[in-house]
Amino acid sequence: MTEPDTPALRLQDCPNWIYLLQEFDSLYRYGSAGGSKEIRSHRKRVRDTLSSVIDRNPEMTFRTPAIKPVTAHLTRALDLGERNVLSGLSRALSRVSDQLTWEWGYETMPKVLERKYAYFEVLGPQGPVRSERLILGFVLFAPNTTYPQHSHKEIEESYISVAGAWSENDNAVYAPGSLILNRPEHEHRITTGDVDPCLLAYAWIGAEDRLAAPGMRLSYKRKARMTRT
Ligand SMILES: [Fe+2]
Repeated sequence: MTEPDTPALRLQDCPNWIYLLQEFDSLYRYGSAGGSKEIRSHRKRVRDTLSSVIDRNPEMTFRTPAIKPVTAHLTRALDLGERNVLSGLSRALSRVSDQLTWEWGYETMPKVLERKYAYFEVLGPQGPVRSERLILGFVLFAPNTTYPQHSHKEIEESYISVAGAWSENDNAVYAPGSLILNRPEHEHRITTGDVDPCLLAYAWIGAEDRLAAPGMRLSYKRKARMTRT
């Protein structure tokens, strides 16, 4: 006698993942746009797309969990996150932290970055929550990291600072709760503080074919400056 097929899990079968998405939704729904029409419009597009994904109750696609060396800094980043304005997001993330598929995303990357950086997706074409027009994820940096200059073709990106202090293009120091908008093709380079790791939530919004194959590439990988490995 053959076993009946196990029905595929859908989003509504995975409450911890729904709660994490609800935290993202709150960030993009209730945070301020700081008076910027462009940021307001980006926030609206992210939350409207996210709402439509949640309403669709998509099938979940869980890949094999995978870690990278920088994952060793995650608990510290979550501890810091729980003390600040994004404590709800940090706690919701901690509930799914054993199910994450950490990645580098680059075919070629400076060797030193292998110990300093990784990201995972929460929602996107690869899952675990399936979506074709929006990617939500988190990126983690070790202390004292320089993430080399890069841009995203035809993808609009926002970072929301969850834990740690960091800077983009030497323009400012961003604290937890800050939202930074990077328009398509905008070149940006990130540096992180000396003492603690830095955890950023991010959203990518763009055309389906571009999100399915974003072609991540560092603009100036030879100039990557890493002072601690
Ligand atoms: Fe970026």
